[in-house]
Amino acid sequence: MSLCYLNGSFLPLAEAQIPVLDRGFIFGDGVYEVIPAFGRTPFRLDAHLCRLDRSLGAIGMRPVLAAADWAEIFARLLSMNEGEDQTLYVQITRGVAPRVHAPPPNLAPTVFVMSSPLARQNLEQAVSAVTHEDFRWQRCDIKSISLLGNVLLRQFALEAGAHEAILLRDGRVTEGASSNVFVVHDGQLYTPPHSHLLLPGVTRDLLVEVLADTDDAVREAPITEQMLRAAEEIWLSSSGRELAPVGTLDGRPVGAGGVGNVYRRVLARYEQCKVSSRAR
Ligand code: PDD
Repeated sequence: MSLCYLNGSFLPLAEAQIPVLDRGFIFGDGVYEVIPAFGRTPFRLDAHLCRLDRSLGAIGMRPVLAAADWAEIFARLLSMNEGEDQTLYVQITRGVAPRVHAPPPNLAPTVFVMSSPLARQNLEQAVSAVTHEDFRWQRCDIKSISLLGNVLLRQFALEAGAHEAILLRDGRVTEGASSNVFVVHDGQLYTPPHSHLLLPGVTRDLLVEVLADTDDAVREAPITEQMLRAAEEIWLSSSGRELAPVGTLDGRPVGAGGVGNVYRRVLARYEQCKVSSRAR
């Protein structure tokens, strides 16, 4: 039985309960993080906690715990739960209150953390993607638990027999339904710049950082639909799925249709980062 953390207590996941008037349940009024842990060690923890506090700030909430307290909770769950590699899921909602839209001041937030074994993925296995108009809201930079738009887009991808939907807004790529997007076009590696239209992905930012001084430095610049369709390589990044090369887009092969050379080099760099984070 998996152990979780809820509002100061550790308890079996099946016994964790929240009141139905929790604003997360009623309004989707909350934020979350997904943090991978390799060898029971959270990966890029500072970046995830920084984004969590940023999301809280964006919805008018204060940070709920100090970094050391989060680290203690995560260490306990990672040591008690199954799997050398796990995914931590952190959710904070504004708390429990009578159902009125306006957020009441000074509510006690609901704080929940669980972990589950990280599914082993073959990161050299190409996946398929389809494009879709990005019909989500204008604050996709907040890691909000209100994910209906993302869920519908993912469902569209699955119904089209694809793994992920790559989203286009005004003729430009924003991100995937639950991932960031990288494209190799004319030999240059691109990812869309940070903006209110996409999540500042921790995996994305890691790649931008570690590739900065290499021949594969990432240009953070708009990717037009034409660039996407003419791309030599496309891949996706996220904390849950790590990296995934895209072999087909809307049923047509991307580049030569296999796993590209730039992707292979970037994957090797990424694996190095994982190894060095475990060694620390
Ligand atoms: N999702 N964009 C969206 C819309 C996402 O949902 C995610 C990740 C990303 C990648 O961000 P990161 O590298 O920080 O995981 C980009 C998580 C994994 C999820 O909702 O499960």
